Amino acid sequence: MSKVLVIHGPNLNLLGQREKDIYGDTTLEDINACLNEVATDADLEIETFQSNHEGDIVDKIGQAKKEGFAAILINPAAYTHTSVAIRDAVAAVELPTVEVHLSNIHAREEFRHKSLIAPVAYGQISGFGVDSYVLGLEAIIGLIA
Ligand code: DQA
Repeated sequence: MSKVLVIHGPNLNLLGQREKDIYGDTTLEDINACLNEVATDADLEIETFQSNHEGDIVDKIGQAKKEGFAAILINPAAYTHTSVAIRDAVAAVELPTVEVHLSNIHAREEFRHKSLIAPVAYGQISGFGVDSYVLGLEAIIGLIA
């Protein structure tokens, strides 16, 4: 059974209480439960990982191939716009990686318009709330089929 690594970046542990006007009421647990349903239907295993620490995310990505993951679904959150280290980890691991965002980063503040991850990701899905994750996972299912 193929395994997909789902990475949630900084402050996503606060979903449900954080800037609800932008991110809504959905909690991280809700998102993970939803992804688990999609994965089960597709005969896929997922592991979810949330960290507020850049180096921990870099480590997790770096180990992903050795740990047997076939692909990565990542919401790098604020690190999207700042992290050369996460970008380099995605490039180094050579696993199909899909970047997702709950909000439409291109419709928000200018500093959010640039993603350092997008050029090394297979693609980016942004602006569909929880559905960004679902669409991202569905894209991965197609990619690794
Ligand atoms: C986010 C968008 C980022 O700009 C922001 O820093 C986040 C969440 C999103 O999912 O919309 O933390 O990645």
